[in-house]
Amino acid sequence: MSKHKPRVFSGVQPTGNLHLGNYLGAIVRFVDLQEDHDCIYCVVDMHAITVWQDPKELMKSTREVTAAFLAAGIDAEKHIVFNQSRVSQHAELAWVLNCTARIGWLNRMTQFKEKAGKNREKASVGLYDYPVLMAADILAYHAERVPVGEDQKQHLELTRDIAQKFNNDYAERIAELGLGRTEDGGFFPLPEPLIQGPATRVMSLRDGTKKMSKSDPSDYSRINLSDDADAIAKKIRKAKTDPEPLPETVEGLEGRPEAANLVGIYAAMAGVSKEDVLKDFGGKGFAEFKPALAELVVEKLAPINAEMKRLLDDVGYIDSVLKNGAERARAIAEPIHADVKKIVGFLD
Ligand code: TRP
Repeated sequence: MSKHKPRVFSGVQPTGNLHLGNYLGAIVRFVDLQEDHDCIYCVVDMHAITVWQDPKELMKSTREVTAAFLAAGIDAEKHIVFNQSRVSQHAELAWVLNCTARIGWLNRMTQFKEKAGKNREKASVGLYDYPVLMAADILAYHAERVPVGEDQKQHLELTRDIAQKFNNDYAERIAELGLGRTEDGGFFPLPEPLIQGPATRVMSLRDGTKKMSKSDPSDYSRINLSDDADAIAKKIRKAKTDPEPLPETVEGLEGRPEAANLVGIYAAMAGVSKEDVLKDFGGKGFAEFKPALAELVVEKLAPINAEMKRLLDDVGYIDSVLKNGAERARAIAEPIHADVKKIVGFLD
């Protein structure tokens, strides 16, 4: 019999172009985790609409994220790839968890404060409730490990708090029904975050202190997975640097955010350490380093880019992958949610 593999769940929002930051920060990790985990990778379209999305763009982005997953090497047969809205248990469980989560907890979420900005009264209720839906995504599958970026750490902690409070609030009922599954008799396991360290955080090509982001107005700040070789080379050529040659040691990158970022990208793309990169390029100027970096990035992204294009030409195929993934996701979430309903006391 095969050994139990820990269940991984993660989500990516289908909002606009995927870039190198998404690729190195999330997707490569997702690919690696497949080896010794059972993975569920979700295109979170319900999270996307917490801010306005053009419906046709949303459909396009959902397929694009799916294509990127597949092109990067996620195996949708061994693992599960689907879009969130197809599995109604996410929304149903979110309602129950809305009644577990406290307003005071949500008021502390820094991402809401950032996204809502000054005009909080005009933010959607969904944006405020976003972290509870995220908790539902994870808990609906009793997922044990959740790979996320540093910026999602607080949401993961909230997920654990919600799971713990549910387990406590309903402890007697869970015991009575014999539904305890954690060591201390809880129903929901507390998911472990797998936080992506700052080492793989990809920064803007225009400002090494800012994260590479799809919302940056300058397209020169990021490398999109859909960029062709010319665009990639041009963006790297124009990337901001400083006048010094590259240092011989990693310590020498301190206080040089742009240099650190480009060396970090090289290291991540080549699968080596920053030390290794500086062994080759320490003492050399950017005039030499940038073309080497451009060549490497093109070489690594070109096949993914080509495969994404090929996949996106066959929308029927992409949609069938998502549909099939949703069926398999539902088969896991349905019995768990049926237990939640029993625990809470909903007649069925
Ligand atoms: N909030 C996550 C992000 O923006 C996306 C997400 C939604 C997610 N649901 C999730 C990530 C569940 C991990 C697990 O990156």
